[in-house]
Amino acid sequence: MQVVKYVFQPHGDERGQLIALEEFVDIPFKIKRVYYMYDTAQGVVRGKHAHKCLKQILVCIHGSCKVLLDDGKEKKVVLLERPYEGVYVANNMWREMYDFSSDAVLVVFASELYDEADYIRDYDEFLNFIKDIDQ
Ligand code: TYD
Repeated sequence: MQVVKYVFQPHGDERGQLIALEEFVDIPFKIKRVYYMYDTAQGVVRGKHAHKCLKQILVCIHGSCKVLLDDGKEKKVVLLERPYEGVYVANNMWREMYDFSSDAVLVVFASELYDEADYIRDYDEFLNFIKDIDQ
């Protein structure tokens, strides 16, 4: 499994840093939704699902967290700890976000509007789902 990490180019000057993310330029899809998580309690694991269609880029714009990516065959862990780096999460990819620092703000850029029907929330169902599309 290839983990696709993005390093965004800050527009830095003596005043500080600024990052601008544009769809199809910095983000490889049309951005239909942005959401973010903060005040995540210690020890919490979020995500624990896959999406049938939705693609995402995760950026921890403050603090840090880890992202487990699991394509059903392999698992990889990505540490997000810089506001200028992101990780791509494809569809049909199980993800878990954990080890949030108390100050973590995790921003998600998503290719689709919120649709519960696009979620696979059961791990065995996920394995069956990807087995079917692999055939
Ligand atoms: P949830 O899916 O549990 O978050 P995660 O699995 O990524 O940890 O979402 C938490 C709540 O927020 C749940 O009630 C659904 C709601 N929600 C929305 O209304 N819109 C959204 O875009 C998202 C991601 C969640």
